[in-house]
Amino acid sequence: MVDDDTTFRLRLDRYGPELLAGLQGAYGDAAPALFERLTGLMRTAFAARPGDLRVLDDARLLTPDWLQKPDTIGYVCYADRFAGSLAGVAERIGHLKSLGVSYLHLMPLLKPREGDSDGGYAVADYRSVDPRLGTMDDLADLAATLRNDGISLVIDLVLNHVAREHEWAARARAGEQTYRDYFHIYPDRTEPDAFERTLPEVFPDFAPGNFTWDDEVQGWVWTTFNSFQWDLNWANPDVFAEFADIVLFLANQGVEVLRLDAIAFIWKELGTDCQNEPPVHDLTQALRAVLRIVAPGVALKAEAIVGPQDLIAYLGQGEHYGKVSDLAYHNSVMVQLWGALASRHTRLFEVALSNFPAKPPSTTWATYARCHDDIGWAIGDADARGAYLEGRSHRAFLSEFYAGDYPGSFARGLVFQHNPVTGDRRISGSLASLAGLEAAIEHDDAGQLADAIARINLLHTFVLGFGGVPLLYMGDEIGMLNDHSYLQDADHAGDNRWVHRPRMDWAEVEAAGANPAGPSGQVLAGLRHTVGVRRRLPQLHAAVESRVLPSPDARVLVLTRDHPEGTLIEVYNFSEDAVELPSYVLHDRLGDVATEQISGYDYSLLPETVRIRPYQPLWLTTRPW
Ligand code: GLC
Repeated sequence: MVDDDTTFRLRLDRYGPELLAGLQGAYGDAAPALFERLTGLMRTAFAARPGDLRVLDDARLLTPDWLQKPDTIGYVCYADRFAGSLAGVAERIGHLKSLGVSYLHLMPLLKPREGDSDGGYAVADYRSVDPRLGTMDDLADLAATLRNDGISLVIDLVLNHVAREHEWAARARAGEQTYRDYFHIYPDRTEPDAFERTLPEVFPDFAPGNFTWDDEVQGWVWTTFNSFQWDLNWANPDVFAEFADIVLFLANQGVEVLRLDAIAFIWKELGTDCQNEPPVHDLTQALRAVLRIVAPGVALKAEAIVGPQDLIAYLGQGEHYGKVSDLAYHNSVMVQLWGALASRHTRLFEVALSNFPAKPPSTTWATYARCHDDIGWAIGDADARGAYLEGRSHRAFLSEFYAGDYPGSFARGLVFQHNPVTGDRRISGSLASLAGLEAAIEHDDAGQLADAIARINLLHTFVLGFGGVPLLYMGDEIGMLNDHSYLQDADHAGDNRWVHRPRMDWAEVEAAGANPAGPSGQVLAGLRHTVGVRRRLPQLHAAVESRVLPSPDARVLVLTRDHPEGTLIEVYNFSEDAVELPSYVLHDRLGDVATEQISGYDYSLLPETVRIRPYQPLWLTTRPW
């Protein structure tokens, strides 16, 4: 008979060693005592885990690849901007289902500080919900409602920092040493200056430097992001214990995936850029083990917007293989998509993907074209050289292009955080505005309109086809344009990322449904159709990697997904030209005739070339399929 005690003991036997090893990596000799303390926390949380979530745990244990299946579709939105409140979200499930959504990331919804809260990323209380959205009970209710509809609730776990108004920070200011030790606080500039020598700046415009003087605490506080976001001292085991408890609390509300916000930054080491330090992975391993013991239905997603060689470690390399996050954002694909669209050239994309280290097969990329953040041109100099480009000038070109300043640019973006030292100019803007829809409407030009819609469709199709959890960003499904109303809100006006965080235009969703020939209608219908195609293609299971096939035409990217049930070849034309692609690349793998899955048409691969329309994506399999 498997009673609760037996289940807990079995899981502790299985994951206890991973937990201890993770803790030892970060805390050395302090690990065993922390392990004991955590065992107590885990027992309590396990006993409190509601029955329906235990059923979920069992279901997940039976289907460990639940995030990898082709029918996994993600959607990302702000609860208030999407539907007013948490209760409102439940009323919009129909729209989500019409897009095949099975994974819903609601942007920060825990209680933030008042005023500017960096879009909720300055959390004042992890155990209550932003009162404007609802209560913790509402969150648990929503999670259950979504689950009944086959949708997993995803929320942020902000673990690099808390709001200056969080109780821990308040108690540190009140002089409690225990809580001062939760943060990095220095009496003078000696240590901050020593760290600054190797630290980059995340928000050079509105929060220069990485430390903020605080009168009340009488010290320099480490604040990587905004001055009101106090970095936590994860070298303190108490901080780990606090977060383990928070994570279990949120898991027991029914949250199914936790997005580990800014995870790369949590460990500080003098003389480094304080990102991707090895203990970050020890800590993730330990957090995951805690979850696997109490709530194995819950997965972790790393938000590490870092270079490829550093990124892969978040999915587990070396000793951490298979033991850290289940998911990670594929920032590189996002950047390369926009890069290829601007340059009508896919060599750099090919080089970047070919140089990308393989991921552990049990882990999954989150693929996306847009999110709530800006686009930083994370293109490695070596990759650029491999494509006969110079990194800095190519990055400058992309900024200029997407700011709409480059001659002939179709984009309408805004420069975010110009850093004169590095030359970096990141870009804000909605998917549709960056892809040319805003300019096309402004110019009232049918040709430009068709190209813009085709670009949006290409981006969505790529995100659905790369393998992984595709994340659709709210509003993009109807091609929503930049929204400048943020300038009227004092808390948002200084941060132009709000230009691509609009309120959902439900009237336009209806119009799109009613008129599939209009721009929003075409975007929505195209997306829904391709989602349907994706769901039935086993080749899109995320355990399989997309690999580059050298393309005979620089405007076209060719990928192959070699699945035991058959090969899928994906062809993407990143230009407004109709391309005659030499067919041997396809013929070699697919034979004389292939079926194009998006259109349902058969393509003869016997002629010398295959004609690809401007911005057309093709998903080709052998026939019959
Ligand atoms: C992440 C979020 C970003 C936020 C930052 C600080 O990068 O995506 O929006 O500003 O973390 O929390």
